[in-house]
Amino acid sequence: MQISTLGRSISASPTLQLNQRAAALKARGVDVIHLGGGEPLSLAPEAATAAGVALLNTRAVRYTPAAGTTALRQAIADYTARFYGITPTPSHVIASNGAKQSLMIALRALVDPGDEVIFLSPYWVSYPEMVRLCGATPVVVETDADFQPRLEDITAAITPKTRVIMLNSPNNPTGVVYSAALLRGVIAACEARGVWLIMDDIYQRLVFDEAAPSGFALTERGLDEGVIIAVNGVSKQYAMTGFRLGWAVGPKVVISAMADIQSHETSGPSTVAQEATAAALAGDQAGVEALRLELRAHRDLLVNGLAQIEGARVIVPDGTFYLFADFSAIEPDDRALAERLLEQQRVVVVPGVDFGRPGHLRLSYCRGRAELEEAVGRLQAFFARG
Ligand SMILES: Cc1ncc(COP(=O)(O)O)c(C=O)c1O
Repeated sequence: MQISTLGRSISASPTLQLNQRAAALKARGVDVIHLGGGEPLSLAPEAATAAGVALLNTRAVRYTPAAGTTALRQAIADYTARFYGITPTPSHVIASNGAKQSLMIALRALVDPGDEVIFLSPYWVSYPEMVRLCGATPVVVETDADFQPRLEDITAAITPKTRVIMLNSPNNPTGVVYSAALLRGVIAACEARGVWLIMDDIYQRLVFDEAAPSGFALTERGLDEGVIIAVNGVSKQYAMTGFRLGWAVGPKVVISAMADIQSHETSGPSTVAQEATAAALAGDQAGVEALRLELRAHRDLLVNGLAQIEGARVIVPDGTFYLFADFSAIEPDDRALAERLLEQQRVVVVPGVDFGRPGHLRLSYCRGRAELEEAVGRLQAFFARG
């Protein structure tokens, strides 16, 4: 009996594994502080849960079209008009089981085995595996020590086999927002070379100073003539991770191919989650702003705390709820360092090597303030001891 080559070649998500490990330790009563995860602790918007409950109470919870209900796709189109400055129709929109599935289905729709997909390092842990799931080759473009990419490096990586460039801004794990100038250059290169651009905007509204530029605003081309597929979702901004609802906005021809693939793989996303999402998008947005301000205060707390640790190099995040610090001057082996932090201080962090940048650790600051303060104290104690 055999497991397929694909099944054997794909590794489990290191961050989801860490979540399980932290949960198991907590269940055993260990006072572990989990700076490894990627979900805010705030509650889902009331309008969202009320809409979900109202549907559940009808007891008529049915299949929807594979790309989602027209009502949800219209709500996503309205959201896009508000935050991206273009006005899509529902046929430019697909709703999926999380942004993760939208990204995966987009790649499946655009990439053949043997093709190449470019993304920047440090990258989100799932990108290389998603590309491999399509039988394609990940092409990683390095950024500098401040996690800034050079346009020339990206364009130099484009070959006749390149089908897609994936950009995530604000970026997980670094929190960096890429400049409008860089995005404009990447979009122009994609348009000139016939390459699709998938923009993973899942942290788009969780920015601390300036807004993250929208790709659609940086091109002369209309949605259907363009190369951009923008992915977003409710997980982070509305703290609705467990609803599993994300979406993609792009040219109709791409969205329609994605819907066909999704129709066979999973069908439409949960109808309850679709109702809840439509309500979250149309409802009061005060929760998103409150979360943004809370995260900014958390970022400042963590940045100031790490500034006291000699040898730690910190690039201040522009957004997200992650900080990616360079500890290589203290300990180049980031896996060993993360392990020691867990053993000695019961603090969970993610080694940088999982994001393509060894010597670093990713610290999440999306949990409670008291817990973060305690974590900073434990980190300072750990590094003071050497
Ligand atoms: C960069 C990035 N993209 C996509 C996702 C997936 O989000 P969702 O929960 O909507 O699948 C995450 C979640 O951690 C992420 O960090």
